[in-house]
Amino acid sequence: MRIRKITVIAAGLLLLTGCSHTDKRQARTAGQQAALGKKTQAARSPSPPPPRKIDCDRVKCVALTFDDGPGPYTAGLLDTLKKDGVRATFFMLGQNVGSHRDVVRRMALEGHELANHSWSHPQLTSLSSAEVRSQIERTQKVIRDASGGVQPTLMRPPYGATNKRVGRVIGMPLILWSVDTLDWRYRDVARDVRVGTKEPKNGGIILFHDIHKTSVESIPKVVDGLKKRGFTFVTVSELFQGRELKPGTTYSERTAQVTAEPPPYGSPAGPGASSSPAPASPTPSTSANPAPSSPVPASPAPTG
Ligand code: NI
Repeated sequence: MRIRKITVIAAGLLLLTGCSHTDKRQARTAGQQAALGKKTQAARSPSPPPPRKIDCDRVKCVALTFDDGPGPYTAGLLDTLKKDGVRATFFMLGQNVGSHRDVVRRMALEGHELANHSWSHPQLTSLSSAEVRSQIERTQKVIRDASGGVQPTLMRPPYGATNKRVGRVIGMPLILWSVDTLDWRYRDVARDVRVGTKEPKNGGIILFHDIHKTSVESIPKVVDGLKKRGFTFVTVSELFQGRELKPGTTYSERTAQVTAEPPPYGSPAGPGASSSPAPASPTPSTSANPAPSSPVPASPAPTG
């Protein structure tokens, strides 16, 4: 607004000096060029690839997830994932995004899923609803700004700790895990490779932390091992394609769909004939106990 005002004043002054016509035209042309330049830049600026259609009822799917970053090893991890053609999901802490904005933008452009893991990793069940809301909203905003407009749709509560109230305030599906590698505790590449390769089952969600060097170093072998087992790597949203994820409900894996088979021709329509997506089998418990493979932490542990 201010610049426009100054331009008008300048144009007015030029009018008085008698050489306005050409200069005014030049100024307008320059303005138009700037606008055009902006448009061209927007058209040229890369955007995230579209989501892939992968039917995890037909192919063996697994989702690699990385928590608590981005950090100093995340760019190296992206190199590995790119080389292997693997898309993963990053549950990021809002407080870490600001110093790794380029990495977050790159994640989006390379087809990874950007997700919310709170601002500063508190146990959300011990916060007021206003504090929970702030943890979520600040993180949404910083991820959106750094990524060039990607709005996360999934949330992983720190430590897997949630309850009805917290789930309602978060207002997004809460994604836990089916394989806890405990990478943060052991910091052992060989162990990470062993657990990360052997434990996952079809439809599983594997939990790693990209803030640990050992975890990032284990990924090439984990990917290799899981590929040999016939897994297709998907983001969490891709894993649950065709299933309905409800806000405030926890999910730790894609379970087999028992009603997937259509009824035989001519038989009355069964529950499988419904056109609405089947429920995604939420994790039964909404307590702080995150997943069957994880022990209940007596005090908050870095898991999740
Ligand atoms: Ni965490």
